[in-house]
Amino acid sequence: MRTAPAATEHPDSARKRTDWQVIKTLLPFLWPAKDVPESGNIRMRVLVAMACIFAAKGAIVLTPLFLQQAIDALSPQDVALIPLFAIVAYGVARFLGLAFAQIRDAVFAKVGVRAVRRSAGAVLAHLHTLSLKFHLDRRTGALTRSIERGMVSIESLVSISLFNVLPTILEVILVGIILWKVFSGWFAAVTVATVLIYVTFTIVTTQWRMKFRRESNNLDNRANTRAVDSLLNYETVKAFGNEALEVSEYDRVMSQYEKAAVRTQASLAILNVGQALIISIGVGVLMIMAAKGKVAGAMTVGDFTAVNVYMLQLAQPLNFFGFVYRNIKQALVDLEKMFELLDVEPEVIDKPGAPALTVAGGEVKFEHVSFGYDARRQILNDVSFTVAPGQMVALVGATGSGKSTIGRLLYRYYDVNAGRISIDGQDIRDVTQDSVRRSIGIVPQDTVLFNDTIRYNLAYAKVGATQDDIDQAARLAHIHDFIKSLPDGYETMVGERGLKLSGGEKQRVAIARVILKGSPILLFDEATSALDTHTEKEIQANLREVSVGRTTLVIAHRLSTIVDADQILVIDKGGIAERGTHAQLITAGGLYASAWAKQQKSMAAAEELAGDEFAIAADAAE
Ligand SMILES: Nc1ncnc2c1ncn2[C@@H]1O[C@H](COP(=O)(O)OP(=O)(O)O)[C@@H](O)[C@H]1O
Ligand SMILES: [Mg+2]
Repeated sequence: MRTAPAATEHPDSARKRTDWQVIKTLLPFLWPAKDVPESGNIRMRVLVAMACIFAAKGAIVLTPLFLQQAIDALSPQDVALIPLFAIVAYGVARFLGLAFAQIRDAVFAKVGVRAVRRSAGAVLAHLHTLSLKFHLDRRTGALTRSIERGMVSIESLVSISLFNVLPTILEVILVGIILWKVFSGWFAAVTVATVLIYVTFTIVTTQWRMKFRRESNNLDNRANTRAVDSLLNYETVKAFGNEALEVSEYDRVMSQYEKAAVRTQASLAILNVGQALIISIGVGVLMIMAAKGKVAGAMTVGDFTAVNVYMLQLAQPLNFFGFVYRNIKQALVDLEKMFELLDVEPEVIDKPGAPALTVAGGEVKFEHVSFGYDARRQILNDVSFTVAPGQMVALVGATGSGKSTIGRLLYRYYDVNAGRISIDGQDIRDVTQDSVRRSIGIVPQDTVLFNDTIRYNLAYAKVGATQDDIDQAARLAHIHDFIKSLPDGYETMVGERGLKLSGGEKQRVAIARVILKGSPILLFDEATSALDTHTEKEIQANLREVSVGRTTLVIAHRLSTIVDADQILVIDKGGIAERGTHAQLITAGGLYASAWAKQQKSMAAAEELAGDEFAIAADAAE
């Protein structure tokens, strides 16, 4: 397989991002390259929100100073004037502190939500560029959960850091400056030291606590699974008389959970007591210093109060720091998972500057193609054939012989390991994937539909299709009358993956869709296998009509449907075992001839085919 050129540009794509790298990946979403009104003025909003943080904290750190002035003005025995200015200023500053915080939230809301929208969109777009192989290897549920968690974590990361961490850091700095300027450097030093000790203690303790939490969560999950499983197996439990065993197993896990949960709670108490102790010591030291200052006549009662208030005011946001730290940690882990998806390199990529495929006649050519989904197991081995423009070539062979794989390679869901596939002389690896897929209409072996209306599923093949187009295609696919007979007609919902339609109905929707798409090259992968012989015959006639003048590859289950193909290729053990027209292959008397004889016999017997005759015939031929 050729290596993707992009892979060399991201040699570290397999490496895990550090927390800091996760934040760096997130930043462009919060600070987009250009700021236009249509993009919601994101940069502008960030700046205004920042200004609000400053304004809010500025106002908050001033309140103790006004309080100090008011107290000092009121302290003497004979107060002549009410210190109106200080009191009003105190009230106004408090109000502004709250108001600016609210404005910040309102202005910033769009930034956070927009970052969520754009990053989730980027991940979804990227997932669509990834190869079929990636998607087959992954559970879709797990993918969407990663995106969902990532989205939630962006919100919490942004709001926590912006509404808690950043303002708190700012407040510590401002309080430090004020204490230093208004009182002395010692007050500032004690305050900052207290905060640093507090934060360090909180991080260390929280990290230690996290393992109890994880443990109790795990055990809780396990107990739950255990209980649910025993109820789901209700009959089995009864049948073996193991009720007591089930309950005691459950209780065993629950008793472990009990221990872990108690430890979680106890460690929280330790955290809280420790935090309170650190703050109290800090406040105590500051108050002793202020009291000494008052005794020495250097400070006032107002100063004494202000110093106390500063410390207690700082303690408020710090109180949540354990929670904040834990959440940031978790958010970074979740976000890393989401961004990891962005690192996955698509396996099938367009060459830089690849032109679009130009289809003239639609000649399809496989030259010495070898391929395996897994390097350890070869599926196709040196397959060569040509479908001339407008010809119909049929592929037949036992299940698992690699027929559908040939279709997937032509569609370039995978790149060949060796050899070359070309359309009208252009190697499909040298043109854009999009143009290749646009020029091929495929009716897959298993049709999956969108959980929407029949009309939506049909029109999906051609953006802007008119009702007439849709009707026409539905008629040719013999599904129009059926749709009309439904109570909701074309507006009928088809259910998850189209499960409310029968296999044959789904196949006919897929056929109509391909007719609507009108591509110059057609690929029918056992397109009529789920239909009864009668309907199949009718649709076959229409398919023939549709495929006139178009290059057509038909993968067939029932040989009777491909007798008039221009060429029939018999695929066996990853290679082409026989090739020729129906008449030639019958005369040759090989695999095809015996499979044909078998199918004819069972047709005569039951007018209906039950199993895979070809597989039986192939076995018999060995
Ligand atoms: N995505 C895949 N990964 C690994 N093996 C696969 C994959 N798809 C198909 N195969 C295997 O490749 C072989 C050929 O499959 P396919 O081309 O679908 O056969 P068929 O001739 O029945 O259409 C089968 O043995 C199948 O198990
Ligand atoms: Mg198949």
